[in-house]
Amino acid sequence: MPRTIIVSNRLPTKVQRTADGLTFQPSEGGLATGLGSIYRADDNVWVGWPGLFVEDESEQEFVTAQFADDSMAPVFLTENEIRDYYEGFSNGTLWPTFHYFGQLALFDDDLWQAYVAVNEKFCQAVLAQAGPDDTIWVHDYQLLLLPEMLRQARPEATIGFFLHIPFPSYELIRVLPWRAELLRGLLGADLIGFHTFGYMRHFLSAVSQLLGLSSQHGQIETPTRTVLVDAFPMGIDYRRYADAAASEAAAAHVRAYREGLKDVRVILSIDRLDYTKGIAQRLRAFALLLERYPEWRGQVSLLMVVVPSRDQVAQYQELKVEIDELVGRINAQYRSITWTPIQYFYRSFPFEELAALYRLAEVAMVTPMRDGMNLVAKEFVASKADQRGVLILSERAGAARELSDALIINPTDTKQLAEALHEALVMPEDEQQTRLANMQALVKQYDVFAWTKLFMSRLAHAKAEQHSLATL
Ligand code: G6P
Repeated sequence: MPRTIIVSNRLPTKVQRTADGLTFQPSEGGLATGLGSIYRADDNVWVGWPGLFVEDESEQEFVTAQFADDSMAPVFLTENEIRDYYEGFSNGTLWPTFHYFGQLALFDDDLWQAYVAVNEKFCQAVLAQAGPDDTIWVHDYQLLLLPEMLRQARPEATIGFFLHIPFPSYELIRVLPWRAELLRGLLGADLIGFHTFGYMRHFLSAVSQLLGLSSQHGQIETPTRTVLVDAFPMGIDYRRYADAAASEAAAAHVRAYREGLKDVRVILSIDRLDYTKGIAQRLRAFALLLERYPEWRGQVSLLMVVVPSRDQVAQYQELKVEIDELVGRINAQYRSITWTPIQYFYRSFPFEELAALYRLAEVAMVTPMRDGMNLVAKEFVASKADQRGVLILSERAGAARELSDALIINPTDTKQLAEALHEALVMPEDEQQTRLANMQALVKQYDVFAWTKLFMSRLAHAKAEQHSLATL
């Protein structure tokens, strides 16, 4: 039976080195959590990096065997590859460019060469797994060259690609010295998917202006093939979040948290540490709320979870310092003996505790500067069984296209954000309920299973059309 080979830079399980040896933990980030629920179906395999430098051959064998039991095939990266391909070109060049932080982007040909070499390494790893009838589904910005590399090796293969981050305006893409190679790399796929129509439009415009290839109804005619482009807003595993938040285990956690919090109301913020997430701006807005509305002092706390991420990249280290200082300053200014304005956690939380936090919080602040989709927004919505709670959502998160019943804000407008916080805290319960019910219906219907099904059936359809055109 044909299988699906999922390929992404990071596997949904990461290896960590501890005093007890190598341990295995779930990975962070939208891609791993989003797809983590589905890849085990059928005989599918997930190819990717285990998230750690593993040099020793016997350790590599051990990791490979552990992952094989769980349908994963690890690609081991050297220390130089991690530095130049992962921290360098992927997260120092592409990530800032695609999120409109162009001024942070590195332009260094050595990093580019490493990116090409590691994409080639992934290509070999995929070819070792994929049979001729298998479908290959490549994910995200770390592997933009992989579709074309696979196409060269297997001209007949069925290849899909999905981008989990924004695709920016042509004006940002054109700055990259390697822009044409990157676009050509993607065009090796049969179907290219984005979270929103806006990202898709930007991509089609870049392909037209930089490669001179026109498109009609999302179909790009290359000299050799037709490539289909479409929008597929990614969903979450709705039931998993709804059930976890409604469980007795979550209720027990909430009771324990409540003992410490007393009757203080909770605003929640959860992100990877990243400058795209607008964490510092969010903190300033919370401080402004306390300044403008002193009645909330002692009544409301911001519970802020920041998950460590890419901590070898300079900008992430600097942001950590900025956040630490801001939290320190705001807490020092407003705290009392019995109340802490910001409860700040710099670590990840196990899934059950996360579910409890979603259940506990009355307001969620999901206010990125830019975000491909943002699944935290959808997870919060799914976790609200009693339909009490308010989502404050950035207009520049992909999720804002669907979740229009949230309080939609411009994350750089601190005053607007502070006012939205106040509005959320005084919102009547029936309005909370109406808004959440609308959003729940949508998030439930377009869950991650529906998303996968839609993408895969579009891919199969695109391939069938190509065949029938070729045989005309
Ligand atoms: C985002 C990206 C993913 C990435 C994740 C975590 O969600 O779209 O591709 O895996 O961030 O980042 P990391 O660099 O730790 O893999």
